[in-house]
Amino acid sequence: MSPFLLTRTLPEDATGAALRADVLHGLTRAPKALPPKWFYDARGSALFEEITTLPEYYPTRAEREILVARAAEIAGITGAHTLIELGSGSSEKTRHLIDAMASLHTYVPVDVSESALTGAANTLLAHRPGLDVHALIADFTRGLALPGTPGPRLVAFLGGTLGNLLPAERAAFLSSVRGLLSPGDALLLGTDLVKDESVLVSAYDDATGVTASFNKNVLSVMNRELEADFDPDTFDHVAVWDRDHEWIEMRLRSTAAQTVKIPALGLAVDFAAGEEMRTEVSAKFRKEGVKAELAAQGLDLTHWWTDERGRFALSLSTPV
Ligand code: SAH
Ligand code: AVI
Repeated sequence: MSPFLLTRTLPEDATGAALRADVLHGLTRAPKALPPKWFYDARGSALFEEITTLPEYYPTRAEREILVARAAEIAGITGAHTLIELGSGSSEKTRHLIDAMASLHTYVPVDVSESALTGAANTLLAHRPGLDVHALIADFTRGLALPGTPGPRLVAFLGGTLGNLLPAERAAFLSSVRGLLSPGDALLLGTDLVKDESVLVSAYDDATGVTASFNKNVLSVMNRELEADFDPDTFDHVAVWDRDHEWIEMRLRSTAAQTVKIPALGLAVDFAAGEEMRTEVSAKFRKEGVKAELAAQGLDLTHWWTDERGRFALSLSTPV
C-alpha cells in the first residue's frame, strides 16, 4: 500500500478562530456577508456533491467533458511528477487527469474539508495503488506551505472555484499560486463562462432545492460551532445574476424581522424583514479576462480549452 498522509497546516483552533473572525466581521457590516468556505463541513461537502449531479448544474459535467478530452494532452505538455490540487473536494473529476499522467508520483489534494479529503484519498488509493497521496487540510487563501515534492509540478484549481473569490481576493490568490511555481511548472485552471442569465440562475436555484439546502448549511455551521440560534426556516435561498460584475450572487433573505443570538461571540444580530445576507459570489469569466488576471500575476496563458457547447473553460498557464 502506498503512503497516505493527512497533514493539518493550521493550529487546532485556527479554523474556529477564523470562523469567529469572519462571522463577527460579516454580520456586523452592512450589507451582511459571509465567505463561502464555511459551507463545507461534512454535510456541506456532501450537498455540494449532490449539486454536481443536478440536471441544472452544468459546470461539473462541462469540465469533466474537457478533462476527458484533454487529459492526455495536459499530461504530455506538463510531464508533471507532482499534482497539487487546491479545493480538491471529492477529487472525482481529477481521476481522469491522474489516469492520464503516467509520470505522476505524488498527489497533494488541499481542502478545508477533512471529510472530503479522507473520502477522496481512500477512493484514489483503491483506484491507483502506488500513488503517494499527501492530503493537506488548509485554507488556500492564507498562504500555502506545501510539502517538498518532486517537480515538475502541476497546480490544479478546478470546478470554477476561482469565481467564488472576489476580484481582489483572486489577485492575491493567483499571486500566491504564482509564488508556488518554478520554471517548468504549470497552473491548470477551471473557469465557468458568461452565458445566458436563465441558464445561470437555474444552475444556482435548482427545482429540487438542493442548492437552497447547501446555502442554508452555513446557518447550521454557525449554530453548531458558535452556539447560534439561526432558524433556517426563517431564511429564503436567493440566487441573482449581477450583470455588472458578471457573477451569480447567492444570498439568504430573512423572511421576518428577527434577532439572532451568537453566544460564542457575545453578539445579537438584528435582521430586518426581507434583509439579505450575501453568502457566495460565483463569477463567470471571458477568455480575455482570465488571460489578463493571470498576466497581472506573472502567469502566461498558453492553452485554452472549452467543452463543445462553450460553457466552461480549462486553461493552462506557466510562470513568466
Ligand atoms: N474541485 C472540486 C470541488 C469544488 S467545491 C470540483 O471541481 O468538483 C469547492 C471546494 O473547495 C470544496 O471542497 C471546499 O471545501 C473547498 N474550499 C472552499 N474554500 C476553500 C479555501 N479557502 N481553502 C481550501 N479549500 C476551500
Ligand atoms: C465550488 N464552486 C465553484 C461552486 C460554484 O458553482 O460556484 C459552489 C456552488 N455554489 C452553489 N452551487 C455550487
